[in-house]
Amino acid sequence: MIPDSFKQDLLNRVDIVDVVSRYVPLKKGGANFQGLCPFHTEKSPSFTVSPAKQFYHCFGCGAHGNAIGFLMAYASMGYVDAVKDLAAGAGMTVPEMQRSPQEIQRHERETDLYGVMEKAMEFYRAQLKESTEAIAYLRGRGLTGEIAARFRIGYAPDDWQALQAAFAAYDDKSLAETGLVIDNDEGRRYDRFRNRVMFPILSQRGSVIGFGGRVMGEGEPKYLNSPETALFEKGRELYGLTQARDAIRAAGRVLVVEGYMDVVALAQFGVGYAVATLGTATTPVHVNKLLRLADEIVFCFDGDKAGRKAAWRALEVSLPLAVDHKPMRFLFLPAEDDPDSYVRKHGQEAFENLAREAQTLSGFLLGELRAQADLSTPEGRSKFLTEAKPHLQKINAAGLKLQLLKEFAAQAGVSQEEAEALMELRNAGARTYSRPAPARAAAPLITSQEQNLLRCVLAKPALAGTLDFDLLDEHLAESAALRTIAAWLEVEEAPSEAMLAERLRGTEHEPVIARAQTAMLAHGPDAESADHEFRQVVLSLHIKHKNAEIEVLKREAATRPELGAELMRRTKELAELKGRRM
Ligand code: CTP
Ligand code: MN
Repeated sequence: MIPDSFKQDLLNRVDIVDVVSRYVPLKKGGANFQGLCPFHTEKSPSFTVSPAKQFYHCFGCGAHGNAIGFLMAYASMGYVDAVKDLAAGAGMTVPEMQRSPQEIQRHERETDLYGVMEKAMEFYRAQLKESTEAIAYLRGRGLTGEIAARFRIGYAPDDWQALQAAFAAYDDKSLAETGLVIDNDEGRRYDRFRNRVMFPILSQRGSVIGFGGRVMGEGEPKYLNSPETALFEKGRELYGLTQARDAIRAAGRVLVVEGYMDVVALAQFGVGYAVATLGTATTPVHVNKLLRLADEIVFCFDGDKAGRKAAWRALEVSLPLAVDHKPMRFLFLPAEDDPDSYVRKHGQEAFENLAREAQTLSGFLLGELRAQADLSTPEGRSKFLTEAKPHLQKINAAGLKLQLLKEFAAQAGVSQEEAEALMELRNAGARTYSRPAPARAAAPLITSQEQNLLRCVLAKPALAGTLDFDLLDEHLAESAALRTIAAWLEVEEAPSEAMLAERLRGTEHEPVIARAQTAMLAHGPDAESADHEFRQVVLSLHIKHKNAEIEVLKREAATRPELGAELMRRTKELAELKGRRM
């Protein structure tokens, strides 16, 4: 972990204009710098770098981030490398992990655990060479020795304590902590994996963090996986990522499948860019990770009912994370096949053709919702829009949201405006794209008061501590981001402007922050004007609420004259609030 205080210093010291212009020629235009976007092909510059706000934004493709993000995206650096690179340029040294003694101990322990897993993997690999039965099983499934070596496949012998041969201290607690052994109630210890073909699961850095073990032939469970440990958290990891990385980059595409054998078989047949979730549903962490690596994600599921359900879950997780320049697709195989069997039967080309023509995310969403509603009746069409509402509200990608809005409206036989109002999309940022942004348009129009508040908080983080959340529309993504920031301020001092956005990196709030920052390019505020604008927005929210109260009261007062005094009091309050406006 790099301390936040160091990141804060670093981001204060570094100028993003210097960093970007190492790679991209920039020209000054007004307050900002412009250049040809390095993240998509274009002829006229829509790539903007703001020295005042210290971030870059492309109005063409939506690429967005700070100096650290730029190095990660452009130079394909990992987070730590990007920080180190910036620090070196600024003449700073990344502190050698200022850790507490407990942290140091935990770190040593973990390093230890990686060593244990590595050793176990080498043991299983050596055992595979000794087992004619296991070799025959893998051959029978069509795997070459080369691909088995690439995925470091091994074999756990049919023995209760085989690992004793690899670990002299078989009773060491690290073996239990890595999940390699199980301690039974009588205090006897035995190997978790026995008589199974072993698929090591590697972390993004390439260390062994878990195993999946398959029975040879029939037997239950078909796959036995490592439990969650200090090293291994299923919802964050993807099988095969280390091996697939180069192919993903070359193809610009990543394929997400369900099984170990699918990844391995696809790799053997020349489709090297496949990874698998580990017997869990797709998580936001998975999707974020994949979006960082590839321009296109293809989720591949079996054609059966379970496959469609898993696909729907992946769609729901992906909706808020989707970005306009990175399409997501859903590939459904024929019911009798999984990717492994399909690629063996039909080959690489046929499989890749399917992947290329896979259903789009919007096609899948529309298709599923249409299948549940009878569009020939008014009730069916209204149900269709009602069902669509929560999904559309979740989308942050402005272009995708607009396109879907138009589709849903057309299919339900209403106008775009009607659909937008019915699904209450307007507040949620619909304004940003009711006018599709031409490549070099000014920043998106200001959307909601909540976004106005967020802009002020991004310019001056301490403001979040003063917010009255009852005034905000709690359904808006902006409100959620503001709540997160306000929660920090309850326990610590306000971070700097640069650090605020940095800390929200990789969270669900990232798209909303990017949107607000983009609006800041055109509308500010800066740290000086933030207070004033913030107060004005809060005031206008107060006025809006007071107006609403009065409306309700007026209706009630029509039948209950005794409410007249109360109505008068509120009306006076409203006038007082309006008087404060400037
Ligand atoms: N899985 C699991 N535990 C099980 C069954 C499945 O963790 N008992 C996970 C594994 O990651 C497996 C994936 O779900 O790879 C898909 O399962 P399944 O379709 O049953 O297996 P296949 O990948 O088709 O495996 P094989 O071809 O070896 O039968
Ligand atoms: Mn299979």
